[in-house]
Amino acid sequence: MSDVLYVNGRFTTTDERVLGVEDRGFQFGDAVYEVFKFTNKRPSFLSDHYRRMERGLREIDIPTPWDEERFTAVMRELIDRTAFADGIVYNQVTRGEAPRAHFYPDGLTPTVIAYSRAFRFPDAVKKELGIRLISAPDLRWKQCHVKSVNLLANALAKKRAQRAGADEALLLSDGFVREGASASFFVVTGGRVITHPLDEHILPGVVRDHVISLAIGAKIRVDERPVREHELFDLEEAFITSTTQGVMPVAEIDGRVIANGRRGEVTTTLQRLFDALESREASAAVAVR
Ligand code: PDD
Repeated sequence: MSDVLYVNGRFTTTDERVLGVEDRGFQFGDAVYEVFKFTNKRPSFLSDHYRRMERGLREIDIPTPWDEERFTAVMRELIDRTAFADGIVYNQVTRGEAPRAHFYPDGLTPTVIAYSRAFRFPDAVKKELGIRLISAPDLRWKQCHVKSVNLLANALAKKRAQRAGADEALLLSDGFVREGASASFFVVTGGRVITHPLDEHILPGVVRDHVISLAIGAKIRVDERPVREHELFDLEEAFITSTTQGVMPVAEIDGRVIANGRRGEVTTTLQRLFDALESREASAAVAVR
C-alpha cells in the first residue's frame, strides 16, 4: 500500500523512488532518524522528538534542515494527508548525496524524508500479559545516545530474540544491562524503579524520560544507574518503554518468569500514568482536521 511521503520539501507517496544510490544514509548509515506516534490525527511528544533529532544532527555534524516550527508544520501536513487516523511517522535526515568516499564534502544538502505508516499499537490484553526478552551481547557502536540509522546490531539481536520465541533482546555489555534493541529497559527492586543513566550506552528514550518524571511525581523512588547482569535473577518487576509499545511489562527474561509472569503493581501504575499523559498530550496538540 502506498503511504504519504515527504521528501526534500515536497509530498509524494512511498511508491515513488526518491533516493540516489550514493546517498550517504544508504552507503554509510550517515543519518539519524525519529519515530513518533499519532492517534486520532494528533502527534505525541512531537517537540521531544524534534529536539532529540536536532541534538543527534549536531553530534554528527549534519546541519539541521529545519527549525521546530517548520518541522511541526511538515509533520502536521503529513498526518493531514494520511488516509488513516492512527499510526507512526518515520523521519530520517541523511548527510546527503555525494560520490562515495569516507571523507564527506562540506556543504552537502541533507536529504530529508518522512512518511506515515499504519501501526497496530498493543491492546489491553497485550499490555497486561507483557513480553518475553532474551539477553544478547550489545554489539552496537559506542555512541548509542545518537539515534543513528546504523541498526545492524539491533536488527541481528532482534532476530535472535524472534528465533528464540521472544519479543525483544536485552543488550548487555561489561556485565551491565544497557537497554532493549528498540526500547528502554527498567526494573523494579525493593519498590524502586531502576534504569540506566543517560550516557553513550543508551538512547535517551522519549517515553523513558516521561516515565521517570511520572514515577517521581507519584513518589516512586527512581535510581538512574546501570543494572548489573546478575540482578536480573532477582527482580520484582521489569518493563520496557518505547514510542510504539508505551510502558510494556516484561513477563520473562531468558525463560525465567518474573513475579509469576503477572504485570506488577509499579508497572501497572506507570503504564496508567503514561497512557493518561499521552492522551492529555495528544488532546492538547491541535488535531489535524
Ligand atoms: N525505537 N532504545 C532504542 C535502542 C530504541 O531504538 C528506542 C526506540 C528506544 C525508545 O525510545 P522512545 O521512547 O523515544 O521511542 C530506546 C524506535 C521506536 C524504533 O527504532 O522504531
